[in-house]
Amino acid sequence: MVRRPIQIGIFIMLQKPRGTRDFLPDEMEARRSIETKLRGIARCWGYREVCTPEFENLDLFTMRSGEGIIDEMYVFEDKGGRKLALRPEITAAVIRMYINEACVAPKPIRWCYFADCFRYERPQKGRYRQFWQFGVELIGADTATADAEVIALAADMLDMTGVAYDLRVGHLAFLKNLLIDLEPPVQRSVMAYLDKKDFTGLAGALRELGKPDLVHSLTALAECRTLREAFEISGTVPERERIERTIMMLDAFGIRYSLDFGIVRGLDYYTGMVFEGFAGNLGAENQIIGGGAYRLSHLFGGDDVASCGFAIGFDRVMVSLGTIVSRKETVVAIASTSEGSIRVPDVARAFRAAGIRVEVDLMERGLGAQLAHAAKSADFAVVIGRREAEAGEVTLKNLHTGEQKTLDLAAAIAEVNAYGAC
Ligand code: HAM
Repeated sequence: MVRRPIQIGIFIMLQKPRGTRDFLPDEMEARRSIETKLRGIARCWGYREVCTPEFENLDLFTMRSGEGIIDEMYVFEDKGGRKLALRPEITAAVIRMYINEACVAPKPIRWCYFADCFRYERPQKGRYRQFWQFGVELIGADTATADAEVIALAADMLDMTGVAYDLRVGHLAFLKNLLIDLEPPVQRSVMAYLDKKDFTGLAGALRELGKPDLVHSLTALAECRTLREAFEISGTVPERERIERTIMMLDAFGIRYSLDFGIVRGLDYYTGMVFEGFAGNLGAENQIIGGGAYRLSHLFGGDDVASCGFAIGFDRVMVSLGTIVSRKETVVAIASTSEGSIRVPDVARAFRAAGIRVEVDLMERGLGAQLAHAAKSADFAVVIGRREAEAGEVTLKNLHTGEQKTLDLAAAIAEVNAYGAC
């Protein structure tokens, strides 16, 4: 007797990593449709797409933000012992690429990107460990018009998506003026409290620093909504003329925004104008865009070029929009008898060449079963039986109305195209 080994199988259903998502075809189609429109707008404003690696040398991110940022990133060593990080954002990588590849290119440089980022954060609605950003970077234009163009482009893109949002524009000059006597690391810790809108923590920290009076002016600055008030609170700032001109340009662009001088921005490379946008229906993670003017290039060994940009949190925009029932494209199913099956490849090729989505039967079912299946997923059935095969024609059946006609191939394609166009 042959003895078989006893096999004990342990089946574990593997799950996706924490903070990541799968996207089924309906959702992907909705995402691609918005992504394509965002690309279209960027193109119309002269921003050309770039692509950088998913991972970079860790230094790229720690150089500006310090080792503390490591806790918020996916950091690893490769087999050669190099310290690498999955990109938590794209701006630093784009500036690295500018230094490596394009620092002598005529300015300004207008670039855009759509890419995934990785942050080791606690996942919740709208906060993921892998998420996508649509961003732009305008490199080498240090003017009010440049700042205004970037905000206007951001508004144009968000408007196109249909998301309801509230855009807030600020400038770091006011805060910096109030914090001028503090050492840069202390300034940074004060700004971190402001970024989180933690005014209690801020008051405690300022008391310890022996600067309790600052709480009043910082709170007033965060709450004021006009330029006049901001100048009153923090005194006049060297950038006054530029700020006024930026605001004038925003009005000329017809943008809906409010002023908010409490905006600090978490990534500490910003130098001037800053802005953020919030969607009303997202709960705690409601910031759908962030950006501003910054200088990073000199830190990475490049020239001290002024830049300005933003990144749209693509996933949050999609969550805010909710389920989008995108217009379904016309689908044609080809059903054939065994006599007609020889013509299926040619007929399918002709429809596909005309840009029409075609599905053919792969299950070798009978004609009735093929048509029953087609009715579940297609708009038209193209039937090829013996008679059609002999006559070089097809029977086109509209699966919504039941109406059917025998036509030559070109006429059938024209009919499907006309249906898709209306
Ligand atoms: P950020 O504000 O860190 O800026 O990110 C931009 C947007 O990405 C946020 O407003 C948010 O919508 C989205 N986002 C951030 N973290 C997550 C997450 N864990 N899950 C889902 N969405 C998220 C930047 O990244 C800068 N690089 C923007 C920039 C470009 N500044 C100048 N140029």
